[in-house]
Parts: sequence; structure tokens; C-alpha cells
Amino acid sequence: MSRSISIVNRSRAPLSQYTRPASFAARPLLSQCQDRFSSHSPMGSSGPAHRKKVTLNSIRTLYKKGEPITVLTAHDFPSGHVADVAGMEIVLVGDSLAMVAMGMEDTSEVLLEEMLLHCRSVSRAAKTSFVVGDLPMGSYEISPEQALETAIKFVKEGRVQGVKLEGGIEMAPTIKKLTTAGIPVLGHIGLTPQRQNALGGFRVQGKTSAGALKVLKDALAIQEAGCFAMVVEAVPAEVAALITRNLSVPTIGIGAGNGCSGQVLVQIDMTGNFPPGRFIPKFVKKYGDVWGESLKAIESYRDETKSRAYPAPEHTYPISKEEFAEFECLLVERTLDEKSV
Ligand code: KIV
Repeated sequence: MSRSISIVNRSRAPLSQYTRPASFAARPLLSQCQDRFSSHSPMGSSGPAHRKKVTLNSIRTLYKKGEPITVLTAHDFPSGHVADVAGMEIVLVGDSLAMVAMGMEDTSEVLLEEMLLHCRSVSRAAKTSFVVGDLPMGSYEISPEQALETAIKFVKEGRVQGVKLEGGIEMAPTIKKLTTAGIPVLGHIGLTPQRQNALGGFRVQGKTSAGALKVLKDALAIQEAGCFAMVVEAVPAEVAALITRNLSVPTIGIGAGNGCSGQVLVQIDMTGNFPPGRFIPKFVKKYGDVWGESLKAIESYRDETKSRAYPAPEHTYPISKEEFAEFECLLVERTLDEKSV
């Protein structure tokens, strides 16, 4: 808290120079500063006005009604905020963070502390979505106890409502440990990016009958262990649909066709927040051009700053003619004083 106040003071003129709204005195100091003085304030934190907090019960209700469940990744406060306001039922702080937000080579590099920091930011923004944090590689595979310790950190420090972890049959005891301790788990089967080295890269899974049977067995095992839902990644649509029909918990597809109970995408992919020419997987649909819009805006700002078209008078603070004349007089007097010394 003291940090954001000091940022406000450092980057702006002293607070005493600003006009105080009548309601100023009644409100807590930090919110006064943010409302009135800081351009760095969070952009409000309310989700869709009509919506109550999404819970496991609401997710189950959607599933029972056959209504597709919407899931989107978010990696910071603004991306969490927009996903929440847009009505995403689940916001996932995925470890894709490593690549899309931290510029790392793959997800194996991201640290537990980094994931926790980003979970906290997203959770502050996504007030009505059900927020899930992705357990990073190395933080849960050693033992169910290690996984529980990590998952507790995600809930207590990351402020998430559930965790996601990758793996099938072999992870069932771990999932059971977490769900028994009261931590909702979103499973992740099919292509599991944290194991890309063992899988021989980002390969579609379940393309043979034996491969499809393995994905089904994984799905049944993690359902039995207590997952409230599971991500099914890069699996042929027919296989994912058949698996979905054989389960009693939702499947959340990514590259797995529209027969799943819901869909998940990485936000920067689907909003088009990347430069032209970047590789995007086949299943991604680009719904926007955020990168193009940002580039245009920043280039305009650059040009207008260089030409002094920005800032225009409406972007500046007024001072009365009298006060300014007085200021000029003070300056002349000061200069004269200095010369006479
Ligand atoms: O890390 C991530 O963003 C994910 C989703 C793509 C499911 O695991």
C-alpha cells in the first residue's frame, strides 16, 4: 500500500496542489489517491454487474444443462479484468505465462513464485470468475504431499479457487490428495506441454486406437480421483467427444473439437496480441487484432509527441491568469534578488 502511494507522489505534483472533491475526506486515503490522482489505478474490479461469483456448483449446473463452459487464460490484472467482465466462467492463470508473458522458451522454466505473483494479480481482477492457477513443472510431481503443499500456497498466497495440474493415471493419487484436502482440481490430459520432451514435442495425442484408449483411461482415472473438470488438449475431435460422453465431469477442450463440455484458449492468441508472422496452433481462432491496434496507437502517440500535437490544451491543468501573472512577478523579483547578491 505505502508503495503505491509513494509512486503517486513521485510521479505527480504534490497532492496539495490539486482540487479536492467534496467527498474526499470521507474516503480512505489510498482510494482517494487512486481515484483522483493516479493514472495507474486498477481499472475497477467489478465483473459483469448481473453475475454472482462462479462456483463449482455453477460449473456443475452449466454442465448438467449442456451449456458450454467458457475458460480463458489471464496472466495479469488487465487480462484478468477483461476476461471477468466478458463473462468467462473460469479464468486460468496458465503456465503458458512462461512463454506469452515472460518470453521464456517453454513452460518448464517458470517458477512457483512467479506463478503465485501472477495468480495474485489475476485474482484481484477476476472477482466473479472461478480462478484456477496452474501448478508449474517441478512443484507437484515428487509426491502428493509436495503437490498439496504447493496447492495450499496457490490458494493462500495466489488467492485462486482451484488448481490445475497435468497428467493422467499416474497423477490420480495426487489429485485425490488435493481434492480430499478441499482444493478443487482441474485435470489436464492429452497433450501435456510440461512433458513435451517425453512426448517428442507438441504432438496431437490419441490419434491411434491405443492412443485414444490411453486418453480415455487417463480421463476416467482423474475423474475418479475427484477432478471437477479436465482440460483435454490436442486430441482428435471424435475421440474427445466420445471421451466426454463417457464422463460425468466436464471436459474443457483446446484443440479437441466442439464435442467437449467447454473450451479454453490462451488470451493473447485469441485476441491477436502478437506480431504478424508468429506461429499459432491450428486450433486457435484469432478474434481480434490487439497487437495491431496497440501498434497503431503507440505510433500515433510517437508522431504526436514528436510534432507537439500531444498534449493538446484539453490534456493540461488550468491556472488562472492572475495566479500565473503573480508567479511571473515572483520569478522576476527572485531573479533581481539573485543579481543584487
Ligand atoms: O498454460 C496454459 O495456458 C494451459 C491452457 C492452454 C490449457 O494449460
